[in-house]
Amino acid sequence: MHNIIEVLDNIYWVGVNDRRINRFENMFEVPNGVSYNAFVIKDEKNVLMDSVEGAFTRQYLENVETALDGEELDYIIVSHMEPDHCRNIDFILKEYPNCKFVGNSKTHKFFEQFYNDNYKDRYVEIKDGEKLNIGKRNLKFVFAPMVHWPEVFMTYETTEGLFFSADAFGAFNAIAGNIEADKVIHKGDWLEQARRYYINIVGKQGKMVQNLFKKVEGLDINAILPLHGPVYKDADSINFILEKYGHWAGFTPEEKGVVIVYSSMYGGTEQASDILANFLAQEGVEDIVLYDVSDWDYSYPIADCHRFSHQVFAPINYNAGLYYKMDAFLRELVGTGYKNRTVSFLNNWSWGGRSLEISKEILEPAKLNYIGEDVKINSAVKEPNVEELRELAKVIAEDYKNTEI
Ligand SMILES: Cc1cc2nc3c(=O)[nH]c(=O)nc-3n(C[C@H](O)[C@H](O)[C@H](O)COP(=O)(O)O)c2cc1C
Ligand SMILES: [Fe+2]
Ligand SMILES: [Fe+2]
Repeated sequence: MHNIIEVLDNIYWVGVNDRRINRFENMFEVPNGVSYNAFVIKDEKNVLMDSVEGAFTRQYLENVETALDGEELDYIIVSHMEPDHCRNIDFILKEYPNCKFVGNSKTHKFFEQFYNDNYKDRYVEIKDGEKLNIGKRNLKFVFAPMVHWPEVFMTYETTEGLFFSADAFGAFNAIAGNIEADKVIHKGDWLEQARRYYINIVGKQGKMVQNLFKKVEGLDINAILPLHGPVYKDADSINFILEKYGHWAGFTPEEKGVVIVYSSMYGGTEQASDILANFLAQEGVEDIVLYDVSDWDYSYPIADCHRFSHQVFAPINYNAGLYYKMDAFLRELVGTGYKNRTVSFLNNWSWGGRSLEISKEILEPAKLNYIGEDVKINSAVKEPNVEELRELAKVIAEDYKNTEI
C-alpha cells in the first residue's frame, strides 16, 4: 500500500522507512532505523527526486504512482549514486518510458558501473549552475563534489527557495509520522542522530561542505529536503541545523565537555577512567561522557569527540602494541577529520609495549593540543595514580573553564 506525505504544496514525500536494518551501510548501528527520502514535484513537468534502497521497490513504485495520480513522470533527478538511493532508478525508467534520467557525467558513469547501460538514450547531462524549467518552478543544479561522493549535486528550486540537499542535513532514525523538523529536532535523540550521521558519513569532507555553503550563500532557503530524516520547513529549524553544520564542517566543538574513551580487559583502566571522571566532576566539569571502546559502535564516541571540547584517550598494551579496538577507533576518528581538540592520556601496561606511542602516532594528523601529564598505570590503580589522576583532572578542568565556545 502506498504511504506518501504532501510535505509542501504539490511536493510529495514518496520515500520509505527502513526499521529492519541493523547497520546503515553495514557499518553504523541504527537502532531506530533510517528513512530513504524521495520526493515528487508536480508541475507542468513532473519530477522525481532520487530513489530508495533495493528492498523497497514495490512501496516506492506505489508511492510514486500515487503522487503522480495518473500523470506522466518526466524526469528523475539523481543527486548521487550511492546505492541506498539508487537501486530503483532502472525500475522507474522501465515503468515510465518517457522519463529522462537527469545527472552529471559522473552520475551516469556510476549508474553504468553499478547497474547497466540500458537507458543511455534517456540521459540528460547537466552542468553546475544549469537550470531546468518545469513549469511554474525552475530547478537550479548546485554541484557539491565530495559531499560525500564525487558526483553529488543538490537542487535548488528557485520559485519558493527549496533546497534538495542530497545527504547533507540527513539524520538517522526512521520517520515516525512527523516529518517536519520543528516537530522533532528539540526532542528525543534527534540531534545525536543527525550529528552521528553527518560526522561519520560526511564528516571528513568539512572543507567541501564549507565550499557548498559559500556557493549557496545569499540564496533564499525556505526549506531543506534531505535524503534521510526530517524536512526543514521553518526558519528556526533551518537556522538551528545551519548553526550545527557550522561547527561540524568547521571542526569546532559545539559544547564544553570531556569525553573519556577507554579500553580495558581486566578493569584497571576502566577504574582509572571512572576515578578521573569523579575528579573532573568535583572540579566543576558538567558534561562528562565515558565510552568503553569495546562496547560501543565507534560512531557514537566519534560523534561525541567532535561534539565536545576535551578528550581523554586511555589505550592499553596488547601484544606489545595497541589494543586493537582502540587502534581501530583512533584511526576511524582521525578518518572523520577530527581535529582542534584538547586531549590527555591514560595508559596501562603490565609488561610493556608501545600502545601510548602508537596512539599518538595515529592521532598525529589531527594536530591536537595535549595537556596534563600522561597517567601511566601499572596493571591496577595504586595510591600514587590517584594523585596523578587528581592532578590531571585539575589541569583539564582549568583548561575547560578557560574554553570559549
Ligand atoms: C592477548 C593479550 C596480550 C597482551 N599483551 C600485553 C603487552 O604486550 N604488554 C602489556 O603490558 N600488557 C599486555 N597484556 C595485558 C594487559 O593489556 C595489561 O595487563 C593491562 O595493563 C591491563 O589493563 P586493564 O585492567 O584495563 O585491562 C595483554 C593481555 C592480553 C589478553
Ligand atoms: Fe550518500
Ligand atoms: Fe544517503
